[in-house]
Amino acid sequence: ALAAQFTVLDNPSPASDAKRAELIDKPAFGEVFSDNMARMTWHKEGGWSDRRIEPYAPLQLDPGASVLHYAQEIFEGLKAYRHADGSTWLFRPDANAQRFQDSARRLYLPVLPIDDFLGSVAALVQQDIQWVPGRREYTLYLRPFMFASESFLGVRAPNKVDYCVIASPSGPYFPGEIKPVSIWVETTYFRTGPGGTGFAKCGGNYAASLVGEYRGVEQGCEQVCFVDAATKTYLEELGGMNMMVVHRDGHVETPSLTGNILPGVTRRSLIQLMRDEGRDVVETMIVLDELLEQIASGEVTEVFACGTAAIVTPIGRFKSEDFDVTVGDGAPGKLTMALRNKLLGIQMGEIEDPHDWMWRV
Ligand code: COI
Repeated sequence: ALAAQFTVLDNPSPASDAKRAELIDKPAFGEVFSDNMARMTWHKEGGWSDRRIEPYAPLQLDPGASVLHYAQEIFEGLKAYRHADGSTWLFRPDANAQRFQDSARRLYLPVLPIDDFLGSVAALVQQDIQWVPGRREYTLYLRPFMFASESFLGVRAPNKVDYCVIASPSGPYFPGEIKPVSIWVETTYFRTGPGGTGFAKCGGNYAASLVGEYRGVEQGCEQVCFVDAATKTYLEELGGMNMMVVHRDGHVETPSLTGNILPGVTRRSLIQLMRDEGRDVVETMIVLDELLEQIASGEVTEVFACGTAAIVTPIGRFKSEDFDVTVGDGAPGKLTMALRNKLLGIQMGEIEDPHDWMWRV
């Protein structure tokens, strides 16, 4: 019903069936896009309007648009899953809608009503439903985003904002077989700091992560992990995903949501699934030096990354200028893989969904 608020405009040149089938067969992550996109516009006078599904096409943007200068931009990431019976489902889109509002408040952008977020995503998926791949780990990745589109070079809250949802048939974020990634621990450059934008899903956080990411790449690592800027003591998160640490006695620790860390939907869901099984999960401040010792002594047996794009990805190694440690025997951990399978099983409709997380489109 929410989707009905969006007017579907004519698309004169959708991809042919053959072309689409080729594009969704085994796509990489985030490289190709579906036929259409959802759109809304916000004006200071009048609020949100023009709910529409229109052909996917380059945006017309004035070079003076504030976002190009001051980065007032926020986004979300969620996926549409095709089940074996052909039906299409979203995973906890209400959580993304809520976080989009929290991000908007931090960036001083207008707050998008929850129903418009859900309606825009549902309307786009309905329109481009044939773009949802069918096989496990291949999904239609949905990217809602909002930006200040008013042409104005003063630094202030915008009078005009654009909101879009685009859809990308996507395979795994880390392509190939599941193998543990190596992490560069960055202690010189930070993605955020106390009172900063760490908890908001804004493009700037990801831009700020890249210098650390590439310092790691130069050292043969695939991902970067940040520590807190204030004390350089506590692990926070990776460039674009949260992190969890498994101890020998089975309990799991993950960095607390201090405001510097993105409150991940996957993070929250895994915590719930582990607690459902009676496992002790502690949100706490993880001291980098202690973690390194615990890895070396075998007290910590597994570490993994989690996020919508990455799902659950084992971490096999931590490296910096000062250390280079391997987690366990460097192979994917048992709990890591069990959680990955459980979450994917729920998302793909293969096992029971005990918390009603899945929304049928
Ligand atoms: C996600 O969707 O998991 C993200 O955080 C975005 C990204 C790093 C691809």
